[in-house]
Amino acid sequence: MTDPALDAEALRERAVASLITARDRTTLLTSCVDEPELTAQHSPLMSPLVWDLAHIGNQEEQWLLRAVAGHEAIRPEIDGLYDAFEHPRAERPSLPLLPPDEARRYAADVRGRALDVLEAAAFDGTRLTEAGFAFGMIAQHEQQHDETMLITHQLRRGPRALTAPDPEPVPLFTGPSEVLVPGGPFTMGTSDEPWALDNERPAHRREVAPFRIDTTPVTNAAYQAFIADGGYEEPRWWTAEGWAHVRRNAITAPLFWRRDGGQWLRRRFGVTEAVPPDEPVLHVCWYEADAYARWAGRRLPTEAEWEKAARYDPAGDRSARYPWGDAEPTPEHANLGQRHLRPAPAGSYPAGESPLGVRQLIGDVWEWTSSDFLPYPGFRAFPYKEYSEVFFGPGHKVLRGGSFAVDAVACRGTFRNWDLPVRRQIFSGFRTARSEEI
Ligand code: AVJ
Ligand code: FE
Repeated sequence: MTDPALDAEALRERAVASLITARDRTTLLTSCVDEPELTAQHSPLMSPLVWDLAHIGNQEEQWLLRAVAGHEAIRPEIDGLYDAFEHPRAERPSLPLLPPDEARRYAADVRGRALDVLEAAAFDGTRLTEAGFAFGMIAQHEQQHDETMLITHQLRRGPRALTAPDPEPVPLFTGPSEVLVPGGPFTMGTSDEPWALDNERPAHRREVAPFRIDTTPVTNAAYQAFIADGGYEEPRWWTAEGWAHVRRNAITAPLFWRRDGGQWLRRRFGVTEAVPPDEPVLHVCWYEADAYARWAGRRLPTEAEWEKAARYDPAGDRSARYPWGDAEPTPEHANLGQRHLRPAPAGSYPAGESPLGVRQLIGDVWEWTSSDFLPYPGFRAFPYKEYSEVFFGPGHKVLRGGSFAVDAVACRGTFRNWDLPVRRQIFSGFRTARSEEI
């Protein structure tokens, strides 16, 4: 028997811990560079770091203080500045943003009050607070911006501001290169994961034909073979749009790569280094992933295929929360949470493999799928249309699995990320698949 009062206490503790973990990360990302660097725009694709900081506080204020607890706005005049839809990223540096000290104080003030609200919250009143959803949503939101801020750090020029230990070296992966996923229906999405966001809901049955999927993400060495074979000069590997895009923008390698005589170098958080052959390829756009797959005689997995490979357990004929089962991620399972500032070598984390033997589905690199970002049958926007609904449609492709830069609270077998097919400043890689002949 589960005791609902104990469950509520456990959820409250998880919510407090998740909010604190997120704030520690935000603090690190916004204290390792000086004031001019916080207010500068390092790329037109990104906000100044100080915008993310106050936006994090503003979202927390709107949802935890105003929507959950009914508080009045602390500073109603700043809401518009931090509304992502009112001001596109390129415009944000010219707004009268709160300076770093004020942004920090504002976010800390909101946080103090939010923890008081959390202390007193009943978790069974409304859909917003049921199982602590709003608190989980806000912890995830902050962690998503922590990933965004890490992307800004990667784009920023200048000497290294962040350090982290490298992942453990592992012997070269020598297991099978692909795994057969049996055909048949499986349960996709979720209706009972308490902090799952609207686009992951509801759980529904999905038919998937048998297919084979790469055991690990595609490595730099494999991707270099595509480049060396003239992959970027051969239109037949590309969709018409992809070809037009790489030609127009003179794209000939992943973002941050540079050729130096016979070898490939990359810039990673302010340091130039040789591209490590065994690491999953990073910073490729959807068009590049799609072209590589065609060159390899394969294709990208659909989103449903990816999720079946990640969650389906043939033994119990059920879908688990993660490839390794229902337990929360630990450092043995996956490379998450900015613990390392790079993906781990292909074949790492044997404890995190799926029942069918697929590795590194969670963590390391976001994986492009062939699918457009669309609602599941029975989708209902909650609690706001601007999280998912306004992005549904053929313009955005789905990415799955999470990168080294995302925290466990914002990553699970059902979690859906999306972006434009041209984007590659994100921590994106991929794996390939092929249909099983029947
Ligand atoms: C789900 C990562 C695409 O960063 O654009 C943050 C998450 N939404 N604030 C984004 C998000 C609102 C979103 N992604
Ligand atoms: Fe946001």
